[in-house]
Amino acid sequence: MPASIVTLNITSRSQDLAIARPGTGVSLQGRLQVPGDKSISHRALMLGSLAEGITTIEGLLLGEDPRSTANCFQAMGAKISPLNAEKVEITGIGLGALQEPESVLDAGNSGTTMRLMLGILASHRDRFFTVTGDDSLRSRPMSRVVKPLQQMGAQIWGRQGNSLAPLAIQGTSLQPIHYHSPIASAQVKSCILLAGLMTEGETTVTEPALSRDHSERMLQAFGASLRVDPETCSVTVQGPAQLHGQQVIVPGDISSAAFWLVAAAITPDSELVVENVGVNPTRTGILDALALMGAEISQENQRLVAGEPVADLRIVTSSLRGCEISGDLIPRLIDEIPILAVAATFAQGTTTIKDAAELRVKESDRLAVMASQLNRMGAKITELPDGLEIVGGTSLVGAEVDSYTDHRIAMSLAIAALNAKGTTTIHRAEAAAISYPEFVSTLERLCHSSV
Ligand code: S3P
Repeated sequence: MPASIVTLNITSRSQDLAIARPGTGVSLQGRLQVPGDKSISHRALMLGSLAEGITTIEGLLLGEDPRSTANCFQAMGAKISPLNAEKVEITGIGLGALQEPESVLDAGNSGTTMRLMLGILASHRDRFFTVTGDDSLRSRPMSRVVKPLQQMGAQIWGRQGNSLAPLAIQGTSLQPIHYHSPIASAQVKSCILLAGLMTEGETTVTEPALSRDHSERMLQAFGASLRVDPETCSVTVQGPAQLHGQQVIVPGDISSAAFWLVAAAITPDSELVVENVGVNPTRTGILDALALMGAEISQENQRLVAGEPVADLRIVTSSLRGCEISGDLIPRLIDEIPILAVAATFAQGTTTIKDAAELRVKESDRLAVMASQLNRMGAKITELPDGLEIVGGTSLVGAEVDSYTDHRIAMSLAIAALNAKGTTTIHRAEAAAISYPEFVSTLERLCHSSV
């Protein structure tokens, strides 16, 4: 067996991931599966907790973010069996029946946990909740959900004019609203719809472009009455609803598959098949963007699994060209922009990413961090207020870079490092475990098999 090109140096608090490309280079070959979809995993845990009866979840993501969701709902009385990817069983306690937790609810690093949960908590009458998160989450804007919830009558307090966690929530009866969201955000949309579940009447959210629709699909499967109008990007929920336990099968996360798709596209002599990936059209912007850049990518074995479209994705080494990524495509690939920046660095010509200012308020400022860290490796990236301009075709060289504790940055830099000359050390690489605990071992396996 050839020596690994991947070395992990673990100290008590942090992990440095060193990636040294051997002289001959690597190629990536084979078939693999990625862990369960993070968005669907959160929603399954939440709706299972709120439903009456038993919910089973197959393929749950065992990353730190869904663990935060599970811990919060357990603290409010939901019975959730030990988390594993085969099968998790939840005995729900029924809509409106969450118990007041004895202590602060900790959403960790997870924006989805905090924002979706706020809609649920605000509508739980006569109960008091406090919610916090890690350093990153406590600096992320919560007013985008607090304001519409307050329009519904919610009582929420927090730092900086109720915009930052920790937040305190006094649950109460809410009134239905029609909320016109200024941003295409599935977290905002889902928060309001979840608040609408227990609110008498019709609660509607209209967004400027369609964001991921996993909440809509799963709410309907659990028995909520929903009206979806894709033409106007509007969803209406009729409250009060009743949810019934379901069998959820979580597909592989296309946001995790994206790292391997780009890795195979930019690494010479590679061919990968990523099996069982969720290809919900509200999430497949990465496939459209890579196709625009000239990647040879195909979907095989397309099927519908528990209400979500799934396929195996085949990709081979491709010569990529720069393109523009903007407009309605952005919400469909919002989490893939860091790895797309890596693809653009290896493309011929210039790639311009616009309309992506949202990236500045993710787990890190992903525009600033990707530009600064890839530039340390020799890339030519200019930050724009709402995007990046990337001049492709430069050769990358190994450097010391930092994840800024952002999982998607850590993994994007690792894929860049595979094709950089020399050794790259990624500090704080442990962040990958937020959404992809097996990322480093998969990287090792794929590289071993091909050197
Ligand atoms: C998510 C929605 C997106 C995405 C996040 C997960 C969700 O956030 O970036 O990783 O599960 O609803 P926004 O709603 O802020 O765009």
